[in-house]
Amino acid sequence: MNSTHAVGRISRSLYARLALVYLVSLIALSLATAWIAVGQFDQLGREWLQRNQIDLATHLARQLREPLAEGLDSAVARNAVARIKSINPVLSIYVLDGSGRVVGAWGGHRCALGQRISTDAIRGLLEKMPMLPAYADLPCDAGRNVFSVARVDYGPQQAHGYLFVALEGNTHMSMARMWQTSSISRSVLIAGIAALLLSAGAGLLLFALLTRRFSRLTRAVQRLADGDHSTRIAVRSDDEIGRTARAFNDMAATIEAQISALRENDRQRRELVANLSHDFRTPLTALRGYAQKLRENATGQAVEQVDALLANVGRLTRLAEQLSLLSRLEIPERALHIEPFPLAELSYDIAIKFRPQAEARDVELRVDCSTPLSVAADLELVDRALSNLIDNALRATDPGGHVTLAAAATAGGVRVSVTDTGIGIPAEDLGLVTQRFYRTRAARKRGSGSGLGLAIVAEVCARHGTRLELASDAHGTTAAFELPSA
Ligand SMILES: Nc1ncnc2c1ncn2[C@@H]1O[C@H](COP(=O)(O)OP(=O)(O)OP(=O)(O)O)[C@@H](O)[C@H]1O
Ligand SMILES: [Mg+2]
Repeated sequence: MNSTHAVGRISRSLYARLALVYLVSLIALSLATAWIAVGQFDQLGREWLQRNQIDLATHLARQLREPLAEGLDSAVARNAVARIKSINPVLSIYVLDGSGRVVGAWGGHRCALGQRISTDAIRGLLEKMPMLPAYADLPCDAGRNVFSVARVDYGPQQAHGYLFVALEGNTHMSMARMWQTSSISRSVLIAGIAALLLSAGAGLLLFALLTRRFSRLTRAVQRLADGDHSTRIAVRSDDEIGRTARAFNDMAATIEAQISALRENDRQRRELVANLSHDFRTPLTALRGYAQKLRENATGQAVEQVDALLANVGRLTRLAEQLSLLSRLEIPERALHIEPFPLAELSYDIAIKFRPQAEARDVELRVDCSTPLSVAADLELVDRALSNLIDNALRATDPGGHVTLAAAATAGGVRVSVTDTGIGIPAEDLGLVTQRFYRTRAARKRGSGSGLGLAIVAEVCARHGTRLELASDAHGTTAAFELPSA
């Protein structure tokens, strides 16, 4: 499984493909060159033989003039030819008439009698500067080969004809035989194989170096894509890859600078919000104090006005608190105060805190947390998250309904949930309500709330490594999250 995976990866690599194409074309080129070279060697051998022996027929014609004058079948002629053959047995000697027909052949070559040899080939070789090697189709099915030819007169009538000598230079050999018997072929073959191995090795090395630089580039791009913006490539050359690497480095530097500028901007924004919302608190507290004093002495219409003032101060205070908490939560460096605490105790405390609000709305607030479950979390943040959830649930539930704060052990920890029998969250809003300042249509109509409550709960969950789950229909809503047990 693993090895096939590795083979698949290698065969998909640029290096493997380049190497394969290169080796295949190198071998094809070598075979073609060898094939052409062997053919040319053969031709060269025949040409060399013919060039050396080109005057052979002229010499023999001179020697055979008198015997041939006695007649082609005369004993004198037969003996003369036999004598020549005894000196050089590879020669085949024929006398041709003017049209190229064999009229004289001796010994084992008598099968040639009556056969015809092309006069074009003969005339070609008799020219002043013949083009070599010149071939003729030899009689007795002896194939095509080089030859020597001269004009000769024969017989008592002194008929004009040709003395044709087949040189029988069988230079054609198998590769194996060449290897065994020809030192030139052997050294050419060795040199060829050495050149082949050398260029294969050099090519593979070059491709390896090239693709290694490509792989380095690819790995750097991958690291950048994975979020390592400080990644850079060492540039050592000014070729295309070098220039690409330099462009990559410039791009990575730009991205890194922009990201750090963005981060700095973000940090400043969070700090501004945190500071502003914190600075609002003191004047708001003072405002509330003055308003409460005014309320004590107010009469008539002024009571209503001061009440409205107090309500608005209350909303502003809550908004400032929510904003301050959210901006604090957003700072990742700010550590949580993780501590073990009993969830049941916290649940009852929260229930007591919300009792007046629940009674005012005629909503029953239940706590279902019988077993003593202890969790490891930031107490203050969990308190805020559960308070926000109960606040939402109470506001969404009509008189006569009920809200339940429950905790139950799970495999990984404790699941805390707030369930209500309220109006529910419309399906299209369910994915959006945890966004900052997002409020449903019902909440906007009611005019209450700032849309930060669930954003804070989601952030608290994220800081604890868990997720807020929301499920809702027309009969009510359940908001839940899990906490690690202590
Ligand atoms: N249990 C629920 N039932 C019905 N609607 C809900 C419920 N919980 C939240 N919502 C709706 O989801 C929206 C977002 O809630 P969120 O708590 O973030 O803001 P808010 O309650 O409007 O303002 P804030 O909590 O900041 O005072 C609100 O408009 C609210 O009406
Ligand atoms: Mg809310």
